[in-house]
Amino acid sequence: MRVVVTGATGRMGRTVREAAEERGWDVRPVSRSDAVEDGPEDLAAVLADERPDAVVDFTLPEASVETVAACAEAGVPAVVGTTGFDDGQFDALWGASQSVAVLHAPNFSRGVAVLLGLVREAVAALPGYDVELTETHHRGKRDAPSGTANRLLDAVDEARETAAERVHGRRGAHLRGDGEVGVHVRRAGDVRGEHEVLFAGNDEVLTLTHRAESRRVFAAGALDAAAWLAGREAGWYDFSEVLNDDA
Ligand SMILES: NC(=O)c1ccc[n+]([C@@H]2O[C@H](COP(=O)([O-])OP(=O)(O)OC[C@H]3O[C@@H](n4cnc5c(N)ncnc54)[C@H](OP(=O)(O)O)[C@@H]3O)[C@@H](O)[C@H]2O)c1
Repeated sequence: MRVVVTGATGRMGRTVREAAEERGWDVRPVSRSDAVEDGPEDLAAVLADERPDAVVDFTLPEASVETVAACAEAGVPAVVGTTGFDDGQFDALWGASQSVAVLHAPNFSRGVAVLLGLVREAVAALPGYDVELTETHHRGKRDAPSGTANRLLDAVDEARETAAERVHGRRGAHLRGDGEVGVHVRRAGDVRGEHEVLFAGNDEVLTLTHRAESRRVFAAGALDAAAWLAGREAGWYDFSEVLNDDA
């Protein structure tokens, strides 16, 4: 495999590069900063010259939109791990997937993929239980709640077949509403990523927790996705399709 890794000097970019090199892949880092050998580069020119099998992008929403547009232009499949897109940016990614294969996941860990299924199952099996979500990430994370937290909240809504009110933190004198879901965000130190979904009712509490112990888990999933996506036709793909093919 031949991959271009954008955001090459970022926390995830560095981890993805290392992991791809360990797999013996041909890795071409592309960076906006001048911290890499050749300085800031024109991604479109790199894609045209190198014809990689895929691009792996963990950057910022506005940068990812540009990356995927360049991929569409060059016909190179794009794996996007960036989170924090607004609706317009999401539409731009989706639009690009009409002309090239795009796979976006807010979390490339296998454990979180399982957690999503468990949350749906728990919500369906425990009607009327209160649900609260807490996530913790390192102090350098910009978007809140995390993309994974939003995906977990969507899973709660899907299982309930209704959109819950998402209450972000609580302050002052208010009673908890019946269907609401509390969302609690912590930013501290170098925590790689923790998500806990709590279900309480009927004199019992169930918690489902995932903790990433290293960024390597996300890099491995993104590279598995890149290998799976290479050579696929244009379209919008989901990480669950990669995992289902694996099973
Ligand atoms: N899907 C998942 O499993 C998963 C897991 C972890 C993190 N993430 C997400 O991945 C993204 C990156 O996380 P990270 O911790 O690696 O962030 P980071 O360390 O801040 O790295 C982001 C990199 O993006 C590049 N970049 C491109 N355009 C930029 C701009 N306009 N301004 C600043 N930087 C720009 C920079 O690298 P260059 O200068 O080298 O271009 C920067 O180092 C975040 O959205 C995070 O939530 C997703």
